Amino acid sequence: MTTDHSIRAERLTLGYRDRVVIDRLDLTFPPAKITAIVGANACGKSTLLRSMSRLLPPRAGHVLLDGRAVHRMPAKELARTLGLLPQSPIAPEGITVADLVGRGRHPHQSVLSRWSKQDDLAVAAALDATHTADLADRSVDELSGGQRQRVWIAMALAQQTDVLLLDEPTTFLDVSHQVEVLDLLTDLNRARGTTIVMVLHDLNMAARYADHLIALAAGTVHAAGEPADVLTEDCVRAVFGLDSRIIVDPTSGKPLMLPLGRHHVAETA
Ligand SMILES: Nc1ncnc2c1ncn2[C@@H]1O[C@H](COP(=O)(O)OP(=O)(O)OP(=O)(O)O)[C@@H](O)[C@H]1O
Ligand SMILES: [Mg+2]
Repeated sequence: MTTDHSIRAERLTLGYRDRVVIDRLDLTFPPAKITAIVGANACGKSTLLRSMSRLLPPRAGHVLLDGRAVHRMPAKELARTLGLLPQSPIAPEGITVADLVGRGRHPHQSVLSRWSKQDDLAVAAALDATHTADLADRSVDELSGGQRQRVWIAMALAQQTDVLLLDEPTTFLDVSHQVEVLDLLTDLNRARGTTIVMVLHDLNMAARYADHLIALAAGTVHAAGEPADVLTEDCVRAVFGLDSRIIVDPTSGKPLMLPLGRHHVAETA
């Protein structure tokens, strides 16, 4: 079985009621690579991810997974290949961490094959990888924002899909947990060839961790490619309306964006 899945959007049009958010978008996500999507608030990043995981039907066009339109695939079948961590997931009231992470195993179960040893192992591995095992018996409602975010990541990991879509996986996380989660996703990509598509607001983390960077602006692709080619001063100005300097990150060799605000900018900048 291959983990290399092709995912593309073909003339994809998405919207809500009378608002078109994405208009005839053509986009390819490289298989077995890490793609980061960046763009201003409300440009359509979450809308795109929701449509890729069939939560939002297209107005026109398709999202194709291995050549098949995802919104014509049965939900459970799709969920065995592709998992989504939404931007603001909602946990059932009072659910424990272990039970929530266990829900990641639902796509692998059926009437005939209920909870198995393999499910136990997948949940334990996901709790372990996200350092949430000590929270297993706690109620999700009573966790800190960062703890809760790591539990949701654990649930997505427990699903053990070849394709993982994550909408701002590092929100609420302190800097060391941010690095840990991005390192963990990189490990998953390198060890299993998992295709990762994630929305990130931190352009520097995106440039550092992504093989492929997509800058979205008003539902269209402003630029896509290697981070060094995409994250330029012109791109930051066009996509975010922000002046910046791009330097080479001495620790990674990747582009590092320094925003120029109206204050605290040296004459030489
Ligand atoms: N359920 C909805 N009903 C109506 N309009 C919506 C809905 N969800 C999103 N929108 C609108 O669609 C547009 C794109 O929203 P989306 O959530 O995709 O943005 P985003 O790029 O993810 O932004 P952010 O960086 O703030 O998360 C916005 O104008 C938003 O108001
Ligand atoms: Mg969003």
